[in-house]
Amino acid sequence: MRIVLVGPPGAGKGTQATRLAEKLRVPHISTGDLFRANISQQTELGKLAKSYMDAGNLVPDEVTIAMAKDRMEQADAVNGFLLDGFPRNVSQAEALDELLNTEGIKLDAVLDLEAPEEEVVKRIAGRRICRNDSAHVFHVSYKKPAKEGVCDVCGGELYQRDDDSEATVRTRLEVYHTQTEPIIDYYKAQGLVVTIEAMGPVDEVTTRALAALKREG
Ligand code: AP5
Ligand code: ZN
Repeated sequence: MRIVLVGPPGAGKGTQATRLAEKLRVPHISTGDLFRANISQQTELGKLAKSYMDAGNLVPDEVTIAMAKDRMEQADAVNGFLLDGFPRNVSQAEALDELLNTEGIKLDAVLDLEAPEEEVVKRIAGRRICRNDSAHVFHVSYKKPAKEGVCDVCGGELYQRDDDSEATVRTRLEVYHTQTEPIIDYYKAQGLVVTIEAMGPVDEVTTRALAALKREG
């Protein structure tokens, strides 16, 4: 399946994407994770991206689209993919459509994760991530690691993302409403949007997502 995941920061896109990608056997492509990998490797792209990310703004389209395209080619994503955090505005959605058109393929669904603002703020405030792998995600109360500050999966150090400060989260939410939400209408016009509640235990959200995607085809 070819799926795009959308939802406000903290809705649980990364958490669900890891699980759905495994179940559906498709590569999980997260532009946020790709930028964070570039930042930790101190690449030129990472240096550029960091200033935008720390402020809670979108990284410019030109570099984001090129990076997403590269990763999709590398992952040989023609047969399926789960995009997490891309596209994030209408011009990125148009660029993705163009790319898929040239391959003669189409998206199957756009999965929209809904969660109230007070919940996403709580999820982000308590999120802790592993230094070794940003797919190892914890929460100080919802998903406590066995030992404080230590990753259960690999023993790596857990840290709080620089863009998870309260002020930056407010900007990210605003950017989501003004720039990203319009892609939901863009995809509704193509009949692709499937909306699910992202509240409740992680497993239940995954079950809900899989059921909704199954109905799509
Ligand atoms: P990105 O990394 O994509 O961040 P985001 O969209 O803000 O989303 P988050 O990672 O904050 O949240 P999530 O929905 O994945 O939640 P998670 O599963 O971790 O982007 C970061 C930045 O990169 C952007 O601001 C931008 O600057 C740049 N960028 C990225 N893509 C770009 C693009 N296409 N164009 C331009 N710029 C781009 O869950 C959150 C917490 O909640 C965790 O602690 C988790 O354990 C917990 N949790 C999850 N589910 C549940 C549940 N059901 N119940 C209780 N707790 C839960
Ligand atoms: Zn780890």
